[in-house]
Amino acid sequence: MKKYILLREEEIDRMSEDEQIEYYGRDILDSLNFQSSDENVQHGTVSVKEHSLDVARASIRISRFFHMRKKRRELIRGALLHDFFLYDWHIPAEEGEERKLHGFYHPGVALRNARKEFKLSALEQDIIKKHMWPLTVIPPRYKESWVVTAADKYCSLRETLHLRKGRFEEKIKEIKEHGEGKKKP
Ligand SMILES: [Fe+2]
Ligand SMILES: [Fe+2]
Repeated sequence: MKKYILLREEEIDRMSEDEQIEYYGRDILDSLNFQSSDENVQHGTVSVKEHSLDVARASIRISRFFHMRKKRRELIRGALLHDFFLYDWHIPAEEGEERKLHGFYHPGVALRNARKEFKLSALEQDIIKKHMWPLTVIPPRYKESWVVTAADKYCSLRETLHLRKGRFEEKIKEIKEHGEGKKKP
């Protein structure tokens, strides 16, 4: 039995990153809330959905490098849900909403939303709750949480520097060309 489990993990490890995401996160990918995060900008021209998938892919690559196969399911699901806050943080919030200090508050919002829709393990919750460390003062508890924290920072930096172009590329280019204060040709 043990051998079978190990073999399965090895087989899964050999799958492509997207196949692993599909294998372990199909229900998350199918979630209407997750799909709706494709309408919200994360950094640069990348949507929150694109960002979450990128973070899951990068987390798989890092865990492969360190031969971490055991908790792959939780790693992927935590990465997919780490930014499940479900709003566009660039749009000013209504009074009383927690959007102002987005960096501090969104892990808690994401965790609340994810809990409503999915059954989460302690590890998955830790990934979501701590991914903004050191902003969230308490450090990640599990090595998989450290992996997602690192993957998130790597992906966010690439997005902010526009090294990763996302689905809003054309739209943002258009706004810049014909934006406010400029007359359309
Ligand atoms: Fe985040
Ligand atoms: Fe993120």
